[in-house]
Amino acid sequence: MTTTNIPRGKYHIWTVGCQMNQADSQRIQAILEDLGWEETGMDQANLVVLNTCSVRQAPEEKAHNLLAQLKRVKEKRDDLLVALMGCMIGKQKTIDELSKRYPHIDLFMKVEQADILPRFLEERWTPISGAGCLDIEFMDNEQPAATPVAPAQITPTFATSFNRTGKRTVLPMAIVPKPGERVAHYPTNIPPQAHAKPTAWLPIVLGCNKVCTYCIVPYRRGRERSRPIDELMVEARTLVDKGAKELTLLGQTIEAYGLDLPGQPNLADLMESLSEIEGLKRIRFMTSYPRHMTDDMIRRMAAMPKVCEHLNIPVQAGHNDTLKRMKRGYTIEEYCERIDRVRELWPKASLSTDIIVGFCGETEEEFQTTLDMLAKIRFDVVHVAAYSVRPGTVAARWEDDIPLAEKKRRLHAVEEQQARIALEINQPLVGSIEEVMVEEINTSRGLQQWKGRNRTNKLVFFPAPDDRDIKPGDLVNVRIERATAWSLQGCAVAEPSFT
Ligand code: SAH
Ligand code: F3S
Repeated sequence: MTTTNIPRGKYHIWTVGCQMNQADSQRIQAILEDLGWEETGMDQANLVVLNTCSVRQAPEEKAHNLLAQLKRVKEKRDDLLVALMGCMIGKQKTIDELSKRYPHIDLFMKVEQADILPRFLEERWTPISGAGCLDIEFMDNEQPAATPVAPAQITPTFATSFNRTGKRTVLPMAIVPKPGERVAHYPTNIPPQAHAKPTAWLPIVLGCNKVCTYCIVPYRRGRERSRPIDELMVEARTLVDKGAKELTLLGQTIEAYGLDLPGQPNLADLMESLSEIEGLKRIRFMTSYPRHMTDDMIRRMAAMPKVCEHLNIPVQAGHNDTLKRMKRGYTIEEYCERIDRVRELWPKASLSTDIIVGFCGETEEEFQTTLDMLAKIRFDVVHVAAYSVRPGTVAARWEDDIPLAEKKRRLHAVEEQQARIALEINQPLVGSIEEVMVEEINTSRGLQQWKGRNRTNKLVFFPAPDDRDIKPGDLVNVRIERATAWSLQGCAVAEPSFT
């Protein structure tokens, strides 16, 4: 539904970071499309939304580079608004610092404040007829000036002024709703059909209550808030109506779902409700945290046919001294006990984990203990990152004493060991038949193949057979013919037994 008479424009959303950010960007996209705005490339857009990530330094630097480029573009263009959201938005102090450094940012917004977008666009954006768009790549070249038109008749609530030529000048103001002005809530708009994919994200817990010493997330995303089951059911049904066949439930410590809700429904309760949705074929979830995961929860998940057999359960390090400095809240013995329990109660489940190497004070011995732990547990997938100082966190006060070259050596050592283990785990799947949910056509090295995932979250590729009408969202039986550490390759078997 197009809800307002806001002049239409073009938008571009730039997203980096985790699945939560991707889910948030989809919601923003839905709001803008509802307003009749059209998606376009960054160089043509009237509204550029940067959805940022602060978990490590590299994605933050990318955003800083883009902001610097956009500043130069904005000096030449009157029809460009810049909005910033995601993890770079923290408390007021962070926003103040950013707006001082980048006065051309027009809107700072947390995802829960996204319903400000219509009002923001109404008050801040006036289409300028004939306005040329500057290509960001060529922004240093001379470009024709935009033709000014009279500003729209609006009553500005935010600081807005017009310069002598009558052109609308967008003042560098951050829009931060006053306390009590609106009830902040996660936007429930869903991207329109045209963008619907068979897989969709469903954020169920926002924020995080832990205080891992290296991590910026709690400072930027706030305290844990679970979304009520009713709201999630409505959103899940809408996603399924629009074409989603698989939902991935998102949260930083997802088993904490419901602890803050009346009646304390838990993750398994939510999954049971979601399982009733007709047309929904698969349910996934991430990220797990060992201390909140109960035996009862695992047993119930294992018994639900729609819940896929995969857990991402970050360990971060294998030595108790490192874990203590990280303030992860468990010992390695407790972690391993949880893994044993998961394997006992849900033997089909594949496991992935996250590791940080080169954390403050990580000795060679500590690192070796982490490597040994990984070799002992044998995860299907290990996501490994070199420690990156995040200003504002507890660990930022400590010396970042592992040189970059050493961090890289440790990172490669984990990757090498894991490549060997993953291949050993995947190899026995050759000859088996896997249920694959088809996601998209993948074209690389001149080959056109379907790409999808099996139930245990392994990437599977298979050639598009001529005699079968396969489309994204279908569940197809694939006989595995080849395995690598990262994916499986096979052929669709004649009779689909999964519908
Ligand atoms: N909620 C998750 C982690 C969210 S952050 C958990 O319980 O672990 C996603 C991943 O980014 C983390 O698992 C960690 O491996 C990595 N990460 C977070 N902060 C980091 C930092 N300062 N440097 C390097 N990697 C980091
Ligand atoms: Fe970060 Fe630890 Fe929470 S890694 S997101 S503070 S569980």
